[in-house]
Amino acid sequence: MKYAVLATWKMALEGTKKAASLLAAGEHCGKAIVEGVCMVEDEPSFHSVGYGGRPNAEGRVFLDGGYMDGDSLHFGAVGSIENFRSPVRIAYSLQEGEANNLLVGEGAERYAEEHGFERRNNLTAEAEQLYLEEKDRIKELSAYDGHDTVCFLALDQNGTLCAATSTSGLFMKKPGRLGDTPLPGVGYYADSAYGAAAATGMGEEIMKGALSYAAVQYLRQGRSAREAAETAVNELDAELRRRNGQAAAMSLIVLAKDGTYGIGTNVSFTYCFASESEEAAVHEITV
Ligand code: GLY
Repeated sequence: MKYAVLATWKMALEGTKKAASLLAAGEHCGKAIVEGVCMVEDEPSFHSVGYGGRPNAEGRVFLDGGYMDGDSLHFGAVGSIENFRSPVRIAYSLQEGEANNLLVGEGAERYAEEHGFERRNNLTAEAEQLYLEEKDRIKELSAYDGHDTVCFLALDQNGTLCAATSTSGLFMKKPGRLGDTPLPGVGYYADSAYGAAAATGMGEEIMKGALSYAAVQYLRQGRSAREAAETAVNELDAELRRRNGQAAAMSLIVLAKDGTYGIGTNVSFTYCFASESEEAAVHEITV
């Protein structure tokens, strides 16, 4: 049976290698991609995820993360969580149970504390310095100024697909702001019968098209991974331009149940892919 892992941005390369090695050893896709995402969360030189993530408008780092299992359709997610090491690990644990699968703010932090998740101050000296330099020009900043969600999708040797995401969200976001990353169907979606998808870019735009769910529905209708990814992004991009005269940056990764993949994007974008027949590598799309 095949395995494959697909992830957003070149920052995911080491995590992609790790996830691929776990998948090659027969590990469940969820465990493999949580390890991959966590490697990105732990790296302070990546400024849009986890430790070293960019602060909000008050100089504090709040993180979002999500996870979905394509066999059960169970999902777990956390939003606007501060001072914990790995939102994706907390999200993964929240897939258990019929309710309370998406927790935000104080409730999410209380859950993480009670379940023994590791605490960490994610505000690095470098991120704090950047905040101090930029805080007076919030209105000039665009969504992509230091804003790149890490998303991992994987197919394991049992044919299960899953998706995981993690971000610090928009640089200088308002307190309490959530983007697409913790929202199932929007920032990520997985259904082992068809495929999985996950998004990076301006969360408010991605929400308008429930982009990840839209792509998986295209797979369900029989389209290829490439067609599903391109159609989902291009249609939303065109619709937003028609209605509002503009569309912000968004990119979508799609992994089909046969291990083939596709990318939809309206900006230049890097991603990582590995499978049983391809070494982990960074690929680039220039728009
Ligand atoms: N795509 C991440 C965010 O908008 O927060």
